[in-house]
Amino acid sequence: MDRGLGERLRTLRESATLTREALAERSGVSVRTIAALELGTVAQPRVSTLGALADAFGLDDDARAQLVSLARQRDPAEAAAAARPVPRELPPAPPGLAGRDALIAAAATHLGATSGTGAPAVWVVSGPPGVGKTALALQVAHRVAAQYADGQLFLTLGALTPSGGSLAVAALRRILTATGLHPRLLPDDLDALAASMRSRLADARLLLVLDDVPGSVDLTPLLPAGPDSAVIVTARALPPSLPAAGHQPLGPLEPEHGVELLAGLAGRARIDAEPEQARRVVELCDRLPVALRVAGSRLAGRPRGDAAADGRAAPRRTIAPGAALQRRHRGPREPRRRVRLAG
Ligand SMILES: Nc1ncnc2c1ncn2[C@@H]1O[C@H](COP(=O)(O)OP(=O)(O)O)[C@@H](O)[C@H]1O
Ligand SMILES: [Mg+2]
Repeated sequence: MDRGLGERLRTLRESATLTREALAERSGVSVRTIAALELGTVAQPRVSTLGALADAFGLDDDARAQLVSLARQRDPAEAAAAARPVPRELPPAPPGLAGRDALIAAAATHLGATSGTGAPAVWVVSGPPGVGKTALALQVAHRVAAQYADGQLFLTLGALTPSGGSLAVAALRRILTATGLHPRLLPDDLDALAASMRSRLADARLLLVLDDVPGSVDLTPLLPAGPDSAVIVTARALPPSLPAAGHQPLGPLEPEHGVELLAGLAGRARIDAEPEQARRVVELCDRLPVALRVAGSRLAGRPRGDAAADGRAAPRRTIAPGAALQRRHRGPREPRRRVRLAG
């Protein structure tokens, strides 16, 4: 079966046991062009380029003519690749985030203001597990999604399992296939994957949400080159590969917003009736949304007026009582809890 120019070139190269670099040296065609031809991302390859490759492979006239004719017809996978699908991958944003309205508005403004300035707009939210980074990032992503008409991608980097290559390789494969590249056209190495992504998405308006980025990952190859795309990142700390301009460190909720969160789960009437207890629970939870959600759900299932139960509603500490007070004098606190906190 005829499988198109890209595959034919790759087969020729592999049967000649040449790397792309070796073929580039032998033919005078750049590694980048060879990669693009193999991937089918070159719309109209030059006859002189094909001629140089044919020379390098030592093809006879028939094989040479066949190569040129392949260049004129499009491989079905290449055709599918050229017709980019529009991914809409954003999971629903948790509704009604307490105390984050101003941050959501500021993030949307930042993305809007830095779009179209020559590089993709980047907004990063950082903070400890359970502080609400993913929830906030999703709210922001939904707020701006309509501006990214070529689609929205959502990748949980911390959950990707790289099969063989690095996390960046796994992420690039995911991005390229989600934007329509046929899996058999995926290159193997990081450089070629990154180049392929840049060519495919150069003129795209794409929103890329990279959730839960481990500190060790260099995000540079994952950034789309197009100025009309945007990237939203969540991580424990600002990844060194990203600009500090769009960085939002996220801290625990203000006490009143913590109470609001509890009221949303346990009922406003109950929280209003026992404001002292509510505040105590909020502090016992270190004002962290993830812990407050557990406490709120527990309160919702308990009889009203049981002060001791209210105290127990907070996830239990692994540290001695009183340490919270001491910690306050030591600057930013790290939540230490027995509940398992997802990043
Ligand atoms: N401001 C908030 N108000 C109410 N619930 C929140 C808020 N922020 C986060 N949550 C909820 O708290 C939990 C933990 O938030 P998440 O975004 O997963 O934290 P992180 O990504 O920082 O680990 C989720 O269930 C989320 O919906
Ligand atoms: Mg998260």
